[in-house]
Amino acid sequence: MSKKIILTGDRPTGKLHLGHFVGSLSRRVEMQESGDYDNIYIMIADAQALTDNADNPDKVRDNIIEVALDYLSCGIDPAKSTIFIQSYVAELTELAFYYMNLVTVQRLQRNPTVKAEIQMRGFAENNDAEENQQRKGTPVGFFTYPISQAADITAFRATTIPVGADQEPMIEQTREIVHKFNSVYGETLVEPHSVLPTNTACMRLPGTDGKAKMSKSLGNCIYLSDTAEDVKKKVMGMYTDPDHLKITDPGKVEGNCVFTYLDAFSRPEHFAKYLPEYENLDALKEHYRRGGLGDVKCKKLLIAVLEELLAPIRERRKYYEQHIEEVYDILRRGSEEARKVAAATLDDVRRAMRINYFEDTELIARQAEEYRK
Ligand code: TRP
Repeated sequence: MSKKIILTGDRPTGKLHLGHFVGSLSRRVEMQESGDYDNIYIMIADAQALTDNADNPDKVRDNIIEVALDYLSCGIDPAKSTIFIQSYVAELTELAFYYMNLVTVQRLQRNPTVKAEIQMRGFAENNDAEENQQRKGTPVGFFTYPISQAADITAFRATTIPVGADQEPMIEQTREIVHKFNSVYGETLVEPHSVLPTNTACMRLPGTDGKAKMSKSLGNCIYLSDTAEDVKKKVMGMYTDPDHLKITDPGKVEGNCVFTYLDAFSRPEHFAKYLPEYENLDALKEHYRRGGLGDVKCKKLLIAVLEELLAPIRERRKYYEQHIEEVYDILRRGSEEARKVAAATLDDVRRAMRINYFEDTELIARQAEEYRK
């Protein structure tokens, strides 16, 4: 049977939040505990983070430990998963450089995630010459990061990439690179597939303000490292239904953050424990829609549900925060291990591309003979 290998990762540009948790972290831990995978690699993508933070290396540097602490406190277990730092695996850069020849500029320009990010970051040019003066333009490294991501994935012969929906175009592009490489140079690379979050309600957890996505710049995140007090405050201030003014008013649950979060995090057991007068979330929603149910009651339930999730994460974090040297040791050992694996793939790639000159004794002997004639 062929191996099942997971590779995934995050850019270290900030602490991880509940959106990351539902989008991928919880899934990774589940997959780790399932025992179904031969290897699991979790990468802190510092080199990728630098593609749009070239002028802000300290931000990346400071967030390495934050992301590592978030991983470990969520239950990523270094005995079962290899956690490593992207820039310490130089082989990834070399692979990316070769893959660049297999991808066109036009194809990259069509990558929907890159397209959206170029707009979002204000890199894009438009028809206004004066305005374009103000724009930074798109860094080449940023533009090509899908190729570097293909290197990350293929270096580990990863089959399975658990990510959020926004990363799917990257996996698609990786598959194209794998096809192209294998058809040009012979069967060498492994084709990956993405694994998206299963619960559609939480594929994209909205921010606490009801905006489409949790984002540090919008200040609408609940962080995994938030205290119980922080979480309580954030939930109490959460966006609900703006037309649900009096308790007796009928309320909307669609687009109501409290219910979206309950969709993502609550289970029937929570109702028995915290709100036994409702059998499950459907019953609670039904009452809210009908009118007569206040926001505060729903928010209190959500706080209890989130605390059940976050309390053990906070507890583990406390341990690692007191053992920072140990965390860096885990990262260093993980990076060394990752480097060995990537180097083996790079050897295969060089051989397939016929740029393994020194290894090719037949080539050397044949040329020696020809020139001696
Ligand atoms: N692009 C991912 C993010 O922004 C991080 C990442 C880099 C990644 N390389 C990867 C994810 C390879 C999955 C596979 O979060």
